Amino acid sequence: MHPKKLRELYFKFFQSKGHQLIESASLIPQNDASVLFNTAGMQPLVPFFLGQTHPSGKRIVNVQKCLRTVDFENIGDNSHHTFFQMLGNWSLGDYFKEEAIDMSFEFLTKILKLPLDMLAFTCYKGSKGVSKDTEAAKKWKSLGIPDERIVFLTKDNFWSAGETGPCGPSSEMFYWTGKKPAPKKFDPNDDTWVEIWNDVFMCLEKNKDGSISELKQKNVDTGMGLERTVAVLQGKESAYETELFQPVVKKIEQLSKKSYRDHQKEMRIIADHIRAAVFVLGDENAITPSNVDRGYILRRLIRRAVRYGKMLDIQKPFLSDLARLVVKDYGDYYKEIEKNKLFIFQELDQEEQKFALTLEKGLREFQKIAVNSDVISGKDAFLLFQSYGFPLEMTQELAAEQNISVDEAIFKEEFEKHQSTSRTAAAGKFKGGLADDSPETTQLHTATHLLLEVLRRVVDSNIKQRGSNITPERLRFDFSFDRKLTDEEKKKVEDEMNRIIDAGMEVRREEMSKEEAVTLGAQMEFGAKYPERVSVYFIGDFSKEFCGGPHVKNTSELGKFKIKKEQSSSAGVRRIKAVLLKE
Ligand code: ALA
Repeated sequence: MHPKKLRELYFKFFQSKGHQLIESASLIPQNDASVLFNTAGMQPLVPFFLGQTHPSGKRIVNVQKCLRTVDFENIGDNSHHTFFQMLGNWSLGDYFKEEAIDMSFEFLTKILKLPLDMLAFTCYKGSKGVSKDTEAAKKWKSLGIPDERIVFLTKDNFWSAGETGPCGPSSEMFYWTGKKPAPKKFDPNDDTWVEIWNDVFMCLEKNKDGSISELKQKNVDTGMGLERTVAVLQGKESAYETELFQPVVKKIEQLSKKSYRDHQKEMRIIADHIRAAVFVLGDENAITPSNVDRGYILRRLIRRAVRYGKMLDIQKPFLSDLARLVVKDYGDYYKEIEKNKLFIFQELDQEEQKFALTLEKGLREFQKIAVNSDVISGKDAFLLFQSYGFPLEMTQELAAEQNISVDEAIFKEEFEKHQSTSRTAAAGKFKGGLADDSPETTQLHTATHLLLEVLRRVVDSNIKQRGSNITPERLRFDFSFDRKLTDEEKKKVEDEMNRIIDAGMEVRREEMSKEEAVTLGAQMEFGAKYPERVSVYFIGDFSKEFCGGPHVKNTSELGKFKIKKEQSSSAGVRRIKAVLLKE
């Protein structure tokens, strides 16, 4: 079955059962600072499990973009991917266990037409005050599943989103992928049984003190990995052999003049990582490569793909060629990657070129360091990072290939030391991109906050700040956007700026937890790290930003805003220079 067909059938089936189809949320969690990327379909729905009313009702269906980096090391095997798509149906305080199981069963056996004797199920065995899920097992039995095909487990059958929050017992569905008929008795440790779907009965909540209490409402959270399910339905060993990856794999074969059969692992890694990088770069909240947090994950994906490309002897830059194929296949459904494709290609080219310059030299340096030693010191690992752009994990991977290790603790110490020196240096020169704290600089600083929000409202709501530098004479503001502003847009921006300045909006500062500020939707500076308590500046109810100040008290102090120049700053980043005229 084609992946598009599976998605369509899933949506249609659950819509026929009263579910509203919603779009995939961004890969980047909007109200949850605890994870870098969404790792499951339920993550964006957490507030609604807790009782908040969802605008689309109590029954929801979608496919969610997910990214799991814990699986980095497993990429290349049959069943792991960094980026993947999770089909899911949800009950937000509506139906519960019995109905959820009924629907799963109907979808598997009537819609996908999977034979009963190739299916098996797990239910929760019970532990730590949560009882054994005999109800779920009873329900499966009532649908004709024999006892030998139902197994009770502990660890794999309790699902929670994180350390705290909604959780509950789950029931997983397995499909027999062997050539021979499935054994009568189900053995969950036999990998021929592949897990394809998980129904979580989300009625509990993990509290900070470790205790578990009941949620106000009983929810259902389900997740079916699209990639894995497509593979097993097609009788393929992995999703790499399906339409989901084949165009990219074929292109890698062509570029490297090598065969997938002989270089399966390398090609799978490249294909996985390029797809993930396209979705991260093309996300509605685009991320670019950097050395912190999400940007660092992206950098690791791209640089690892480049290294594997080198192992295959691919001679020229190749990432954007592969990215084009990903956009072609996925862009009709995930509109954001089609819309942001130029930005994606530019960023990939840039990062690939940057790394290609140092990769070869770095590999030679690594070899020199590694020869005759059984551990790479933290200082050497840091040198490889600092001078050749090798992420720590890449050095670790190279080391592991030669059975040596890396002193990670010392690397981290070196890294921290370097971070704080460069922070101090930056603080000595500018505080938050400010040249000084003169009244003019302060006014332009407030104007910069307004400018970000005006650009977001007038030009494109996806715009993010990428940098700022302010002197007493002018502001310079860099933001993510992939084309020149039109004269009309510039005029609109100026007019809106001056309207707000004239409206005399009050500027106020509030201290709050980082989490609260994120929930309020305060704008953050790109790539910056923030402490637990942060300062947020509000301009009327127009703009909110993480910021340490200083700012004026009221926008009426600013004068008339005028754009002097609008130009490209780097790939996908535009730069505005503007002044405040005294009237
Ligand atoms: N949230 C559940 C999972 O990811 C459905 O398996």
